[in-house]
Amino acid sequence: MFERFLSKETSYLRTSEIRDLLKLTEGRNVISLAGGLPDPQTFPVEEIKKIINDVLFNNSDKALQYTATPGISEFRKELVNISRMRGITGINENNTFATVGSQEALFMLFNILVDPGDNVIVEAPTYLAALNVIRTRRPNFISVTVTENGPDLEELERKVKDITNNGKKVKLMYVIPTAQNPAGTTMNIEDRKRLLEIASKYDFLVVEDDAYGFLVFEGESPPPIKAFDKEGRVIYTSTFSKILAPGLRLGWVVAHEDLIREMELYKQNIDLHTPSLSQYIAMEAIRRGVIQNNLPKIRRIYKEKRDIMLEAIQEYFPKDSRWSKPVGGMFVFAWLPSRIDTTKMLEKALQKGVAYVPGSSFYADYSGRNTMRLNFSYPKKEELTEGIKRLGQVIKEELST
Ligand SMILES: Cc1ncc(COP(=O)(O)O)c(C=O)c1O
Repeated sequence: MFERFLSKETSYLRTSEIRDLLKLTEGRNVISLAGGLPDPQTFPVEEIKKIINDVLFNNSDKALQYTATPGISEFRKELVNISRMRGITGINENNTFATVGSQEALFMLFNILVDPGDNVIVEAPTYLAALNVIRTRRPNFISVTVTENGPDLEELERKVKDITNNGKKVKLMYVIPTAQNPAGTTMNIEDRKRLLEIASKYDFLVVEDDAYGFLVFEGESPPPIKAFDKEGRVIYTSTFSKILAPGLRLGWVVAHEDLIREMELYKQNIDLHTPSLSQYIAMEAIRRGVIQNNLPKIRRIYKEKRDIMLEAIQEYFPKDSRWSKPVGGMFVFAWLPSRIDTTKMLEKALQKGVAYVPGSSFYADYSGRNTMRLNFSYPKKEELTEGIKRLGQVIKEELST
């Protein structure tokens, strides 16, 4: 009824058939490997209770009040500290910005930076919700294949060179270098530096999404690309959703001061500022070491769940499939034999009591039709094994028809 009144941009936002299908799973006996929620066991509930009590006792005048658009000044200092834990140095509070989850950061950044027709590089596959924001800007997408070690940098340089040779420019690349969602890959340090060199040589920005930087449970988490950035070329985003609690809706950006000022103007039009109470809670959680002390537990829980999922996949998936072996994060990505269309197969899977996200949603050009994303952070351990077992049967049946 309202269709004819909608703005062009709103009309680009359509609920996907897949989302509608997955909604049907709610309340039914379906094991969902489709979600992306943290395990609630990882929430430091008692510590947060104590913090909220103390904050309301000592600082209610500020914690319940309006605050500055880029964030509470003391909290921004803690954002400098937590970014330093990821290896980012040489910044001060004026380089930081508190956002409503990193989703808002991505929303603001792509709106501030991308005009229709701009060349925007994304990984193939990449994070669905970022892709959806970028889509509303009507850019020219350039997809770069994600290999076992992250984006294929030869392909990246070749494509950027082509654009440059045609007299055009690349505006930015959106990249998730650590425990990528959905592909589960992690770039090595050399490749991070190389990517930055390419960005510098061809003069484009890098929007680096480090949502899982603290969630590496095997080996060391490599420093973010931002840690090597001497030109202010990298715009870094991260989130408290995976290391504290997603319901706080709290993320942050580290970037050049000039961009922080643009974000300030933009956010004044959205919501004035990120909730003060959430900022106070996270600030105290950093100061008291709640986040730092809780990380080993989160990593232990996710590593155990990842191992259970990988073992089940090894046992139940057809041998000519391949899948990622993520060193961190919350997802495994699987490439099935090419005759399988995971979008078409989803309904059958739901009938057999298991849900996943078809992989084509994670590709700018909707390719990757034989791929799927599987979440291991939220389901219970026994559901992981049973869910993969059911899925293995569905795939094998699909292959035999
Ligand atoms: C890669 C990536 N970026 C950003 C987000 C957004 O998270 P939030 O808005 O809760 O910070 C997520 C959440 O799943 C994610 O996986």
